[in-house]
Amino acid sequence: LSVILLSTALVAAQSFKLDEEEIQKSQFPDGFLFGASTSSYQIEGAYHEDGKSLSNWDVYTHIPGKIEDNETGDVADDHYHRYLEDIELIHSLGMNAYRFSISWARILPDGKLGKINPRGIVFYNKLIDHLVSKGIEPFVTLNHNDMPYLLDARDRGWLSPLLREEFAHFASICFKSFGDRVKHWITVNEANMLVDFTYIQGVYPPARCTPPFGNCSSGNSDVEPLIAMHNILIAHAMAVDTYRRLFQPKQHGFVGIITHCHWYEPLRDDERDLHAVDRVLAFNAAWVLDPLVYGEYPAEMRQCPRLEMPRFSPKEKELLRGSIDFIGLNHYTTLYAKDCFHSPCPSGGDHAIRGYVNTTGYRDGTAIGEPTGVARFFVVPRGMEKIIDYLKRRYNNLPMFVTENGYTLPAQQNELQDMGRINFHKAYLVSLARAIRKGANVRGYFIWSLMDNFEWLSGYTSRFGLYYVDRQTLERTPKLSAKWFASFLKNNTHNE
Ligand code: NOJ
Repeated sequence: LSVILLSTALVAAQSFKLDEEEIQKSQFPDGFLFGASTSSYQIEGAYHEDGKSLSNWDVYTHIPGKIEDNETGDVADDHYHRYLEDIELIHSLGMNAYRFSISWARILPDGKLGKINPRGIVFYNKLIDHLVSKGIEPFVTLNHNDMPYLLDARDRGWLSPLLREEFAHFASICFKSFGDRVKHWITVNEANMLVDFTYIQGVYPPARCTPPFGNCSSGNSDVEPLIAMHNILIAHAMAVDTYRRLFQPKQHGFVGIITHCHWYEPLRDDERDLHAVDRVLAFNAAWVLDPLVYGEYPAEMRQCPRLEMPRFSPKEKELLRGSIDFIGLNHYTTLYAKDCFHSPCPSGGDHAIRGYVNTTGYRDGTAIGEPTGVARFFVVPRGMEKIIDYLKRRYNNLPMFVTENGYTLPAQQNELQDMGRINFHKAYLVSLARAIRKGANVRGYFIWSLMDNFEWLSGYTSRFGLYYVDRQTLERTPKLSAKWFASFLKNNTHNE
């Protein structure tokens, strides 16, 4: 008992006092946005309420064995019913922005041919109104993995060109309904990871290459990811075109897309691995961003001998070129890249085509950063500055937002005393501030995540939140990191 009392007392007492050497909010430009991110399937619950249809994830998580703890997002954090409380949590941290996603199945349960669900519109209107009334700027993602099941099932998700029209239609309804208050739109979250998990690894619905959905023996993984990305990019460009023609003139907002951006370093100190770094970055961030900035897939991909890149028509190129106002980057960690064009490639997968392998391995016996105990997750703060510098150079310093940066530990570990998370954010913020000082046009930083939530394949076994969520009662409790972040945002005054 005394241990419990002591640790409770510690949480209360350690409201933060930041000292001089620590990262200061004043090191960021005026008007810089500090917020937290979430997504609909991961927090909302109410999976079959108020006219919402089943999403691809509602169906997928109900298949036994797909999710680590066999859990679902049926209830998740019940944010659908507790959104007012959750806005209070954001407000009490002193954040001036909040990123969430809109559940496509809540707005258009039957896709383009069906009716708009008015109760879906009401929910997001209430959410947005309350955020705005608290001075919190809404950042809205239109597609964060979930979509109406019937669209996903119709023709293997993003493999269907029909999804372009579907998405553009959904986006235009959102612009029309919420665009008077929402000024930052994100079309698709982590387009590169979405394609990777769905069409390469086959672990996200419709899980190509994983029975019962997929057909691994067809060897589809060379081509399907390329087609899926092609459709996503054109869907994005169509949505942006609609926004710019019909809504932007009155609403004056901005549209971007998010790429998942690890940083990579060469495993061996030689030319081959340096080129592997170029390739892995091209196959991730640039696969998404080059077409949207320059109207072409990255040269590094086009030059891969065995990769048959789809082609954009001249009209599509025109639509794509310049179709982002900002880049959203989700950055978590740094990995090594090892060449396998000139050195042997592991068998299986498409390494031989891409010519690189990613590895968390050790270089000269030294780990790349501090391992957190979670697979593939190393704390390497310099990666933040490096990836931002790469994007700055490659895309002429377009405005950027760090739309996710976060830290997880397995559920069993001491959750409320999360010093590891605090140290992680401090160090990554130092690195971010350095990038900005050197001229990077970064305008905001969002922590993943506001509260513990449904972490896709890991279910509830992995906790990223600033707030701890009790799985039985769903009560939210601030972790030490929440208190630290609140005092950081309070401009470094004592937070007692
Ligand atoms: C990226 C995804 O956007 C988000 O949904 C996920 O929970 C976090 N990273 C953590 O893995």
